[in-house]
Amino acid sequence: MAKIVGGIATSHIPSIGKAIARGLYDDASWKDFFDGYKPVHQWLDQVQPDVAVVIYNDHGLNFFLDKMPTFAIGAAPEYRNEDEGWGLPVAAPFPGDPELSWHLIESLVADEFDITMCQEMLVDHAFTVPMALLWPGKNRRPVRTVPVSINTVQIPLATPARCFKLGQAIGRALASFNKNERVVLVGTGGLSHQLDGTRAGFINKKFDRMCIEKIVKDPQFLTRFSIADLIRESGAQGVELLMWIVMRAALGDQVSEIHTSYHVPVSNTAAAVMVLETQNGVNNGSTDPL
Ligand SMILES: [Fe+2]
Repeated sequence: MAKIVGGIATSHIPSIGKAIARGLYDDASWKDFFDGYKPVHQWLDQVQPDVAVVIYNDHGLNFFLDKMPTFAIGAAPEYRNEDEGWGLPVAAPFPGDPELSWHLIESLVADEFDITMCQEMLVDHAFTVPMALLWPGKNRRPVRTVPVSINTVQIPLATPARCFKLGQAIGRALASFNKNERVVLVGTGGLSHQLDGTRAGFINKKFDRMCIEKIVKDPQFLTRFSIADLIRESGAQGVELLMWIVMRAALGDQVSEIHTSYHVPVSNTAAAVMVLETQNGVNNGSTDPL
């Protein structure tokens, strides 16, 4: 079976990618943020994952309002990035893992999740910026990848409760993969996040702190929120917490918090990175229904 070594939650906003492109790691306004990733690099060096299952939300590069799957999984040998208009350099392609992708797709459909399967898939900044944060170095590609895209753009969105169940199903699917792969789950997005309108720049530190605490000890608590609750409490783009919920649910019941860094503001959002390790290095295969 695949072994889940742990999960990482990280922000993904384009301004981070611009700072990386300009090498602003020691710039006064960025140093504290980037320093928050140093313990993550140490942990990744220790656990040595083979594959990253990256749960993110596409912002219009691969899917647009005319065709918007709720859940989509890539099943390609590689994933290309293209210019999104943010001024970010286009990233080199990321290697895929079609065998694991198809196993996940088949398992999730059998588990009653209707997955859009993508044999071609462009990955946007919500995928490329976290990869550059976690494995820095120009075009460094030490892991294969499986992109899992969750709709946060076109209403209706899947609820936190539904996303939690998806994460549990991903955990079960990985546990039944018949290859000795070491897998890290990455959930990208968040935290407080309102890009436009009269609430632009809205940040709710109290809610962010609560999410950070609950994602470790009691992730099911977060399933009581509706999408409207998340938008009210953390901003319109605060719904990206859904990716954290999927990642966390895949890890099973108990995790150890290895590292947390919360930094406000990055651009006009709250940013965080967390490393959660599965107990004994494996997911416990929780099938506990909500
Ligand atoms: Fe985003």
